[in-house]
Amino acid sequence: MTLSRRHFLGLSGGAAIGATLGGCALASGSATGNLLRSSLRLPGPFTVPLPVPAVAVPTDTTGGTDHFAITQRHAEVEILPGTKTPILGYDGQFPGPTVPSRTGRPVIVEHINELDIPSVVHLHGGHTPAASDGFPTDYVLPRGMDTVPGHHQGGTISRGSFAYEYPMTQRAATLWYHDHRMDFTGPAVYHGLAGFHLIHDDEEEALPLPGGDRDIPLMITDRAFEADGAFRYPALDPTMLEQPGVTEQYMAGVLGDVVLVNGAPWPELDVDAVRYRFRILNASNARRYDLRLDPRPPQGASFTQIGSDGGLLAAPLEHPNLRIAPAERFDVVIDFSAYPVGSLVTLTNAFGTGSTKNVMRFRIARKARDDSNVPPRLSRVEGISSTAGTLTREFTFTQGPLPSGETGWLINGRAYDPARIDSKVPLGDIELWRFITDVHHPIHVHLEQFQVTRRGGGGPGPFDTGWKDTIDLRPGEVVEVAIRMTDYAGTYVMHCHNLEHEDMMMMSNFQTLR
Ligand code: C2O
Ligand code: CU
Ligand code: CU
Repeated sequence: MTLSRRHFLGLSGGAAIGATLGGCALASGSATGNLLRSSLRLPGPFTVPLPVPAVAVPTDTTGGTDHFAITQRHAEVEILPGTKTPILGYDGQFPGPTVPSRTGRPVIVEHINELDIPSVVHLHGGHTPAASDGFPTDYVLPRGMDTVPGHHQGGTISRGSFAYEYPMTQRAATLWYHDHRMDFTGPAVYHGLAGFHLIHDDEEEALPLPGGDRDIPLMITDRAFEADGAFRYPALDPTMLEQPGVTEQYMAGVLGDVVLVNGAPWPELDVDAVRYRFRILNASNARRYDLRLDPRPPQGASFTQIGSDGGLLAAPLEHPNLRIAPAERFDVVIDFSAYPVGSLVTLTNAFGTGSTKNVMRFRIARKARDDSNVPPRLSRVEGISSTAGTLTREFTFTQGPLPSGETGWLINGRAYDPARIDSKVPLGDIELWRFITDVHHPIHVHLEQFQVTRRGGGGPGPFDTGWKDTIDLRPGEVVEVAIRMTDYAGTYVMHCHNLEHEDMMMMSNFQTLR
């Protein structure tokens, strides 16, 4: 007999569950979540080459606007050698095509839904008017579907396709786009609906950073596989139409046993013994990584961070390791000239165990000429900070009962209701937002990048520098950020980016007001 989540809560008590999750999170040293194992034999690591996602080509560039068209469709791809995995893919690919853009040139991406489920596209990190931000109930229905299944209505319904409009007034940065549908973001992203969107600008292009094929986006995800090669995901409703959420064993988060980089298991990349720029994105549903180089370079830092979620840092920052929570991005330079030609350098995950200890491997193939450099000044980053009278909002993240009686994830004691406005935020004002938790949550705010002002009892942590849109809120911690919403009045969300938590209601609406 399977106990319902409500019974489970009734028997053991909410606090006990919280404590169990906390203990689990601490035991694995990393994320809130449970390991889901694959039921087929996994390939060895470093046997497949690193794929680089295709770059989308605009269909039209007249009038100063770049138009793209992306078709969301079912496809079968070879992820594990010799097996086929059905995916939901942007243009049938996982990761989806990388959308290139330039500051000051508006972009319109028409998304055509040829899936058999509704979709919503969010440009994560985008400074986007509400109508194009991918509000969770702004559904794009596939042709032939007339009404929205499930229980949440009230947004804008489009049929067949929707043209998302991005003004692209923001600075160069590594953004990503992914599905954001009410109740089903976790399974949609897990099945492949995620891609990069890179913004370039003149300031960045004037810098001598590594470029061309030495500027590579790395999308790190973890997955589990069924015996037939399909993705394994513990959805309560595999049709992704009616019942949201996952089985109670995985409600803390789904952790897979296979690490994919750009959709390939533990891939290998041949590199020249020179500097490379990697735009690292953790697109996993729940897993956190502690990335390291093994062996460490004989001299110099493993990672020189040049950018964060919101673009270039003011100055480069050296790290021996990178702790990256779901949805965060670290833009880094690795200097492979520190290693002898022929070296094998593994990108490891110190938070992992067994198969999740490895991420990918670099093979230092040859010497080559390198005109790149990491200058001591990268950009101007205006600091925003509070003054007397700055409004402070508190957001507390806990587990608790949903209106259905089942257990879910709450913000300030409430389950997400797409029709309820939880905060009214005047445009133009600096505010302090304080995030408070018991277990681990990666917290993401739409519309605007923010700056971390405090973490725990002290100042920002080593991975908090620069403009951020997602923060790694660790067990028992309080993190405070300074944020200033600008330009667009409308309703937006902030939420936990552990996608199982998000789907199980850890989300909140804020309305920006002129
Ligand atoms: Cu990456 Cu609201 O999401
Ligand atoms: Cu976002
Ligand atoms: Cu969470």
